Amino acid sequence: MKILKMAFKGYRNLKENELEFSPGINFVFGKNAQGKTNLMEAILMFTGARSFRGTKDADLVSFESDFARIDGKFFFENTEHEITIIFSGGKRKAIFDDITKSYPTNIIGRFKTVLFSPVHLSLVKDGPDYRRRFLDAAICQLKPTYTKTVSKYNQVLRQRNSFLKMFNQSKSGFELLDVWDSKLSDLGAKMIKERLEYLKIFKNKVFSFYNDISGGKEKIEVKYSFSVNKNINLGLSLEEIKKIMISKLEKTHESDIKTGSTSCGPHKDDLEILINEKPAKYFGSQGQQRSVVLAFKLAEAMILEEFSGESPVVLLDDVMSELDDFRKKYLLKNLGKRQVFITSCDKSDLKKLEIGKLFKVENGKIMQVKNF
Ligand SMILES: Nc1ncnc2c1ncn2[C@@H]1O[C@H](COP(=O)(O)OP(=O)(O)O)[C@@H](O)[C@H]1O
Ligand SMILES: [Mg+2]
Repeated sequence: MKILKMAFKGYRNLKENELEFSPGINFVFGKNAQGKTNLMEAILMFTGARSFRGTKDADLVSFESDFARIDGKFFFENTEHEITIIFSGGKRKAIFDDITKSYPTNIIGRFKTVLFSPVHLSLVKDGPDYRRRFLDAAICQLKPTYTKTVSKYNQVLRQRNSFLKMFNQSKSGFELLDVWDSKLSDLGAKMIKERLEYLKIFKNKVFSFYNDISGGKEKIEVKYSFSVNKNINLGLSLEEIKKIMISKLEKTHESDIKTGSTSCGPHKDDLEILINEKPAKYFGSQGQQRSVVLAFKLAEAMILEEFSGESPVVLLDDVMSELDDFRKKYLLKNLGKRQVFITSCDKSDLKKLEIGKLFKVENGKIMQVKNF
């Protein structure tokens, strides 16, 4: 998987430009707030996913323009592909090999990347939302149909919640709640099943990467934490999960009606990360938390590669300065032959790297340079 060329216009602060990338390491250097992350984000847009910074599509367009356009030329699935994303009027449009897609998310699963940025430290430190999003995004790239399951689930969840609120006022149509429970559990069980399948493979990979990084001194465990039942195991069938979810939804009818929200389901589940049997969130040192994210990202990349037979493009946005020498070396060693983008405001990160191409970013202008 390679991005060969890219052109952009009106994207955030990036000045209109065309760039050709190296199939190896692309090192993007620049001071703070010049546009390095904007470039990484633009590359990520070709996956069909939304901005990892949670920015609305309308805000991706330059303050000085009313639309943005990014064009990329790629090599994957043994052939060249072209992807164009156009942002205008608060909406996105994706064109894949000259075919306009009705939903930009329809291209998810084609161009594959793994992004590693300091925001990922939230995976360990912050709320469950980050871990759910990580898991869902990783599965979406692997199995594009999962994207539809998640969006249908969210839709039914919103409908069930509106029904709960309505019922709380009108007190009529209670029997309809069973219909919503059944619909939600159907999709919820599918989501949970996919997550558990992913986790089965993911947790072992994370274990071995983390074991390596810690020099065999620490053990990491990643567990799925269920909002419907704490004692669930990874081997449950779809039907079993659905049954458990329905019965829990029934039990929580009363409180759900009071709050107008759904208290259990995949939207409330979490991943538990334990280092030597203690929650990494509360007891992990900064170094350990960074190692966890590193192990997560390497595992994500490896699974994508094993399942699709293609190595994802790796985007390392400003993470080199977050890692000590040992972790840096470990990361680079494990990136192998993948195409990599490294952004940094520290030239010393260049040391010992076999750089393919160097780019300098200044006030949104990106220039290829021979040296700094
Ligand atoms: N929609 C936009 N239009 C123009 N400039 C933007 C837009 N969104 C963000 N920016 C600018 O982009 C810059 C930040 O770029 P970023 O890529 O995050 O910097 P860094 O090089 O530190 O990674 C800021 O100066 C910000 O004002
Ligand atoms: Mg940045």
